[in-house]
Amino acid sequence: MKAMLILCTGLLLMQTAVAEPDPVNGQKLFAASQCLNCHGTDAFTKADRKVNDLAALESQVRRCDANLDTNWFDDEIKDVVAYLNQAYYKLQ
Ligand code: HEC
Repeated sequence: MKAMLILCTGLLLMQTAVAEPDPVNGQKLFAASQCLNCHGTDAFTKADRKVNDLAALESQVRRCDANLDTNWFDDEIKDVVAYLNQAYYKLQ
């Protein structure tokens, strides 16, 4: 029983470690991408920007990623979302 508990706690901890988005990695991915081919970073800060919550930011990053052949994995998308939010959007 005790071993089971330790195992479960361990698995939970591992999951949080994996699920935590990493804005530093997001910045690297973004810098290495062709994201700025179509729009500048001003698209992220302009007064009439369309994205106003994190879910919308994530789906927009997915849509834009689909226009490129980067094919980011799910966790990479989340890293880029975390970076864009930290650097530009500042959403909660
Ligand atoms: C093929 C052209 C194209 C590429 C490449 C592209 N985007 Fe976009 N993106 C657009 C268009 C078009 C819009 C919507 C018009 C606008 O807001 O300027 C947009 C809007 C956005 C927005 C929302 C701006 C707002 O209004 O808040 C984000 C965030 C974004 N792009 C992120 C990215 C990221 C990250 C990448 C790289 C994976 C990327 N884009 C690559 C065309 C592109």
